[in-house]
Amino acid sequence: MHPEQHITIAIDGFSSCGKSTLAKALAQKLHYTFIDTGAMYRCVALYALRNGCVLGPHKINLSCIVSSLPEINIRFGDTDQQENRIVLLNGEDVSDAIRQLEVADIVSEVAAIKEVRESLVKQQQELGKNGGVVMDGRDVGTVIFPQAELKLFITAQPKIRAKRRFLELQAKGETNSLEEILENLEHRDHIDSTRAISPLKQAEDAIVVDNSEMDQQQQLDYVLNIIKNKTNLQH
Ligand code: DC
Repeated sequence: MHPEQHITIAIDGFSSCGKSTLAKALAQKLHYTFIDTGAMYRCVALYALRNGCVLGPHKINLSCIVSSLPEINIRFGDTDQQENRIVLLNGEDVSDAIRQLEVADIVSEVAAIKEVRESLVKQQQELGKNGGVVMDGRDVGTVIFPQAELKLFITAQPKIRAKRRFLELQAKGETNSLEEILENLEHRDHIDSTRAISPLKQAEDAIVVDNSEMDQQQQLDYVLNIIKNKTNLQH
């Protein structure tokens, strides 16, 4: 295995443990394409919110969402900088809108719908079919690309994850409390890991990375070292 062979790197793990940050940094370093599969579920959730398919906290109208699927077009905008890749929902830049807690509060329920998963998994497989991708999500190494050459399973303690998300949202001017964020994280972890279809679980051949005690640079260096060791082993 060699990164220059344009391998597929699958990054799965719990909510808010820095998967996307790591995936973006890796993509930039290796000149790969970064694909954030969670952003795609968030787009469907945002569409559902805006179109009356959400009935209340954690309550969704299943048939409303399923019948809306053909009207939902999700694209990643091209920019030179992987970290600034914008997310387009029916042509509109929703990169910030999909990060709001309102969307986070409903997205796990949306992501548990069979038809939603079937539609998005197909699109994700198409987006990554040529390799040279770093894809992050919950089922990348188990369902989307079970043959990925490198699978990472990222984890960190819930309180540390909530604090990181809190600071991130605060920097964007959002006023959610730390407790509210921790509650949302634990709720999503529970739904994501217990749902019937493609639950979040560690692939047998995934390497576990607990980044509770690492900053972003340490995590990137740690993973680049894993890639280097794997490369050396197989040459
Ligand atoms: O990674 P994220 O927090 O942006 O993901 C948003 C939600 O989408 C999360 O609650 C789980 C779900 N998801 C999923 O079920 N499968 C994926 N491949 C990616 C995300």
